[in-house]
Amino acid sequence: MRALIAAMAGVALATLPQLGFAAETGMGKGEYLARAADCVACHTAPGGQPFAGGRAFQTPFGVIYSPNITPDAKTGIGGYSDEEFISALQKGVARGGKHLYPAMPYSSYTLMTREDVLAVKAYIMGLAPVSNQVAEDKLKFPYNQRALMIGWNMINNSDHRFEPDAKQSAEWNRGAYVTEALGHCQQCHTPRNFMQGLKSSSAYAGAPIQGWNAYNITSDKTAGIGGWSDADLASYLSTGHADGHGSASGPMAEAIENSLRYLTPDDIKAMVTYLKTVPPQPGNAAPAPVSAKPDIALGGKIFEEACQSCHRANGTGSATPYAALLGSPSVTDPSGTNLVAVLLYGSHIDTATGAKAMPGFAHGYTDVELAAVANYTIAQFGKGTGAVTREAVAKARSTVTD
Ligand code: HEC
Ligand code: HEC
Ligand code: HEC
Repeated sequence: MRALIAAMAGVALATLPQLGFAAETGMGKGEYLARAADCVACHTAPGGQPFAGGRAFQTPFGVIYSPNITPDAKTGIGGYSDEEFISALQKGVARGGKHLYPAMPYSSYTLMTREDVLAVKAYIMGLAPVSNQVAEDKLKFPYNQRALMIGWNMINNSDHRFEPDAKQSAEWNRGAYVTEALGHCQQCHTPRNFMQGLKSSSAYAGAPIQGWNAYNITSDKTAGIGGWSDADLASYLSTGHADGHGSASGPMAEAIENSLRYLTPDDIKAMVTYLKTVPPQPGNAAPAPVSAKPDIALGGKIFEEACQSCHRANGTGSATPYAALLGSPSVTDPSGTNLVAVLLYGSHIDTATGAKAMPGFAHGYTDVELAAVANYTIAQFGKGTGAVTREAVAKARSTVTD
C-alpha cells in the first residue's frame, strides 16, 4: 500500500489502464465494476432479492443489517444524488450525514475513481426498485452512536483515490486497482486493529472472518501464495479450484461465485501479477493447542461412511476435482478452523462447469464425532497431527455464519 501512496506525483488518473471488459463479458462498465466490487454479496439477504439488503453482519459491537440499495425511493437509495453516492463509497458518509460502519468496505472503495463510482451508480439506478424495509441494527451503546465513526475515519479511512505507480507496469497497476479498490481483498485477508481498522503493516497476512480463516495470501513462499504458479493462482481466483491447492469454500467460494468468476482473464492475470509482489508476511496461524491423542479410529469410520463417496479414500476426489483434498491448506492447518467450518455448514460454489456442493454435517453428528473426523482428515491428507477438540467444534457451531 505504501508503494501506492508514495507513487510518483503527477501521474494522471486518466492513465489508469482500462481493459476492454465490455466486449468480452457482455456487461456494461457499471455492471462489471459492481461485479468486481461484489456489492451484491453483502446487500442481499439469504434467499432475498439481489441488492435489496437485509443481510446480517455480526460485529464485535453488535449486529448491523445491510441497507436496501435498489433505487426504491422509500426503502432503498432511489433519491441519492451523485455526490451522496460518491460520499457513501469514498468517505463512508451516506445520505443525511449518516456515518457508515466499516462493515461497508468503503476504506477500500475510497480508492475507486469518481468515474468508476458513478458508473456503478448508473448501473444500480437502472435496476428494478424493490420495496424492502430492512431490520433495525442491534448495536450496543456507545457503538450505536454513528458520530463515533468520525474519529474512526480520521485514523482508518485514507479518503484518497488510487494513484498508479509509474515504476510498475500497466498490468501491475490494473491488478493493484482491481485487488485493492474493487475486490477489497484486504477486508478479509488483513488482520484488524482493536478499532476494527485494517492493520496495514500486516497487509494480507491472513485473518479470521466469520469463523473462517482467510489465509495469508502474501508472496511468502510457505505461509502465503508465493510458491503458487501464476496459472494455479489464476485458476483458483477465476474458478475456485487449483489442482494441488484445494478449492475455495465459505466466504471465498462466495467471493468467486458472485464476483471473481465474472472478471476477464486479463483482469485475473493482472491481479496475479500484483499479488505476487505483495510483501511477504510470516504465517498468522497461532500454534494449535495440543489436544489429547486424536481418535483416529472413530474418525476413519466416519470418513468412510460420510465422506469417502465424494472425496475417495485417498483424498483425490471423485466426480469433481473440486473435491480433491490433497494440498488444501484446510487439511494441513492443525487448528482445523476451515475444515470444521466446512464440516458444520458445508460449501457451495457455482462455476462455469456447474455447481459443486458439499452438505453440512452440523445435524446428525456430535461434536466428538466431528472433531474425530476432522483430526482423521488432517492426519490422512495433511500428514499432520490435528488438534481439533470437541470444544472447538462446539464453539464453531455458534460463531460460523453462512
Ligand atoms: C462486505 C459487505 C459490503 C459490500 C461488499 C458492500 N457493502 Fe454497501 N454496505 C454494507 C453495510 C453493512 C452497510 C450499512 C453500514 C451501516 O449501517 O453503517 C452498507 C451501506 C451502503 C450504503 C449506504 C446506504 C444508506 O443510505 O444507508 C450504500 C449506498 C452502499 N452500501 C453501496 C454499496 C455499493 C455500491 C457496493 C459495491 C460497490 C457496496 N455497498 C458493497 C456492506 C457492504
Ligand atoms: C469475504 C471474505 C473474503 C474476501 C472478500 C476475499 N477472500 Fe480470499 N479467502 C477467504 C477465505 C475464508 C479463504 C479460505 C477458503 C477455504 O478454506 O476454502 C480464502 C482463500 C483465498 C485464497 C487461497 C489461499 C490458500 O492458501 O489456499 C486466495 C488465493 C484468496 N483467498 C485470494 C483472494 C483475493 C485475491 C481476494 C480479492 C479479490 C479475496 N481473496 C477476497 C476470504 C475472503
Ligand atoms: C456430496 C459430496 C461430498 C461429501 C459427502 C463430503 N464432501 Fe467435502 N467437499 C465436497 C466438494 C464438492 C467440496 C468443494 C466445495 C467447494 O469448493 O465449495 C468439498 C470440500 C471439502 C473440504 C474443503 C477443501 C478446501 O480446500 O477448502 C474439506 C476439508 C472437506 N470437503 C472434507 C469433507 C469431510 C471430512 C467430509 C465427511 C464428513 C466431506 N467432506 C463430505 C464434496 C463432498
